[in-house]
Amino acid sequence: MATRHFLTLLDLNPEELKGLIERAIEMKRDLAQIRQREPFKNQVMGMIFEKSSTRTRASFETGMVQLGGHAMFLSPRDTQLGRGEPIEDSARVLSSMVDIIMLRTFEHQKIQRFAQYSSVPVINALTDDYHPCQLLADIQTFVEHRGSIQGKSVTWIGDGNNMCHSYINAARQFDFELRIACPEGFEPNSELVAANKNRVVLHRNPEDAAKGANLLVTDVWASMGQEDEQNHRLEQFKNYQVNAELMSHAASDALFMHCLPAHRGEEVSKELMDEPKAVIWEEAENRLHAQKALIEFLLNQ
Ligand code: CP
Ligand code: NVA
Repeated sequence: MATRHFLTLLDLNPEELKGLIERAIEMKRDLAQIRQREPFKNQVMGMIFEKSSTRTRASFETGMVQLGGHAMFLSPRDTQLGRGEPIEDSARVLSSMVDIIMLRTFEHQKIQRFAQYSSVPVINALTDDYHPCQLLADIQTFVEHRGSIQGKSVTWIGDGNNMCHSYINAARQFDFELRIACPEGFEPNSELVAANKNRVVLHRNPEDAAKGANLLVTDVWASMGQEDEQNHRLEQFKNYQVNAELMSHAASDALFMHCLPAHRGEEVSKELMDEPKAVIWEEAENRLHAQKALIEFLLNQ
């Protein structure tokens, strides 16, 4: 059977994704038993980071250890990847040694090429276009607080970036309505929007998009690699902050999520970060549990 990868949420079918979220919740509950059982003893994850990370690195590394295995951090600064060794060669060599690989990089095409040449499962730990692991944690967090997300209304406020693209895929796979409010020129990929037009709607006005929503989500206005655009983006996005006023247009029990790191006072108000409806800390912790379920799924194929 062909090696299964997780490059976007479309790599698993809706049933598999639903099972994975249930398993993540179970693994969170049964942590002590899993640690004792060490289901993936002596298995090794290669972790390649071409961009910075706190949550992704800590969650994958800890998760692998909790499963009884080991994680190996590989940075381009001190591997041959940083000196121009082709991605295809790196994929062949690394996958001949380790059991599973996660990669955080820039162009989505790069991870696609890497996966094509890898003999073991490859996990997308963020590219310029998608961040599917974060969505596993976000959906888990929503389910834990409010039950199934199917049929709910989710509002994305801000940049049509990698997180927004993964929300579009999530709307399709988990069957919810997604409203996206972004300034002109910062829309998500038009083909992706068109392919999901039955459940994804673009807005300019954040209040219109937030009306009655069950979940509001945002992310930084300048992603990794866009640092030069920071000042221009601050100006363009200034009316797109998620704060108490915007939350007041959503459903009375609406939740707020942010993948973090956050810029308080920019895309999210300082106050909202500390409110109980902001489930951001659990969202971050759930990266650990959701990704363990993902590792188990991929290693058991
Ligand atoms: N949310 C997220 O992926 O965080 P890091 O960049 O810290 O890994
Ligand atoms: N959109 C952000 C997400 C960080 C986890 C970025 O790509 O920098």
